[in-house]
Amino acid sequence: MKIECDIKPNRLFAPQLVGLVSSIDKKGKPNVATLAWITSVSAEPPLISIALGRSRYTHECISRSKEFVLNLPTMDILKEVQLAGSISGRDGDKFEKCDLTPMGSIALKTPCVKECTAHIECKVVDTKEAGDHTLFIGKVVATTCELEAVKNGVLDISRIKPVLHLGGTFFTTADEVVDSRGV
Ligand SMILES: Cc1cc2nc3c(=O)[nH]c(=O)nc-3n(C[C@H](O)[C@H](O)[C@H](O)COP(=O)(O)O)c2cc1C
Repeated sequence: MKIECDIKPNRLFAPQLVGLVSSIDKKGKPNVATLAWITSVSAEPPLISIALGRSRYTHECISRSKEFVLNLPTMDILKEVQLAGSISGRDGDKFEKCDLTPMGSIALKTPCVKECTAHIECKVVDTKEAGDHTLFIGKVVATTCELEAVKNGVLDISRIKPVLHLGGTFFTTADEVVDSRGV
């Protein structure tokens, strides 16, 4: 039996992959924020969309710099991921407060987050207002990841435990790879 339910609709298409998005402010100082509303929107050219609430300091930073890095955290830094999503870079150095390390990127002024497994560097090519968020569409200009993170062309989740958001303070991860050719 199905019932009409009052759960927030976005919580029904969960879990959602969590990213740590790094950016720089007008003085070039780095900031980092946790985002779950992130997705690929084009393969060629490779485009990534991130949805940012207008009150976020990250919104202000990326609107000005027109670039961001989408970093892939793993479950071992869940505490840092939660903290980066709970405080604002407006109130101080969030890299320092979260015990995260800015690391030079390849193609941007914006640094990567060293503690993450993969880094997708993006230049903003478009924005779209969507309700209380703004979609920033970024063209991927460089991608780096740890050598052991990938197997058979996909994330090796026997080694890499991605952070998946269920909603609120609830998270999960993935630990099984299923090849649909075998079912
Ligand atoms: C798991 C998780 C997912 C989040 N996803 C988003 C998101 O997709 N978009 C958004 O604007 N804020 C999201 N947030 C909230 C921001 O991370 C939070 O407001 C943060 O303090 C913004 O930091 P800033 O002001 O330094 O940019 C999320 C928070 C958490 C904990």
